[in-house]
Amino acid sequence: MADILIVYYSRKGENYWNGGLKTIAKGNTERVAEFIQKAVGGDLFEVDTVKPYSDSYMTCIEEAKQELRSKARPEIKAFPENFDDYDTIFVGYPNWWGTMPMCMFTLLEKFDLTGKTIIPFCTNEGSGMGSSERDLKNLCNGAVLKPGLSIHGSEAENSESKVAEWAKNSI
Ligand SMILES: Cc1cc2nc3c(=O)[nH]c(=O)nc-3n(C[C@H](O)[C@H](O)[C@H](O)COP(=O)(O)O)c2cc1C
Repeated sequence: MADILIVYYSRKGENYWNGGLKTIAKGNTERVAEFIQKAVGGDLFEVDTVKPYSDSYMTCIEEAKQELRSKARPEIKAFPENFDDYDTIFVGYPNWWGTMPMCMFTLLEKFDLTGKTIIPFCTNEGSGMGSSERDLKNLCNGAVLKPGLSIHGSEAENSESKVAEWAKNSI
């Protein structure tokens, strides 16, 4: 078993893309997660919500805003198995309203992260990591939080060398 886990949430479908809307078959964060695995190995785990978000970008924006406001913890379909066996956990997500989608809070609150190394990565349309690193610090009590990597969503597919270099330097 590898001791690296790459856990991420990524939404396919209609998304904001360089000032317009575009339907994407593979999520931006998923692309980055795959580049990390290619560079440093480890196991990939995609977080998925029981209740799917709308395929429509504008509707999803509202759904996400409501969840953030109400501090929701949306149910997720599955948690990674053998989570306790991993020492190094890359945590990936799109920036939604300045932080992680709330399902990442659902995920991270489930586990004792004491002694683990948490390495965040975030795709976004310009807001960078937002407040996600601060939120992670609060969530990941007792863990070592490494500096995160922000990737512009529309550049995710061309980010392999940057992602690989950062990932190798982070472990
Ligand atoms: C609900 C929602 C909220 C978003 N909020 C922000 C934001 O606050 N700042 C930002 O830069 N991008 C925002 N975006 C754009 C996404 O962060 C960006 O498109 C990201 O690359 C999507 O990754 P994914 O394809 O892995 O889901 C938002 C997108 C969605 C769907």
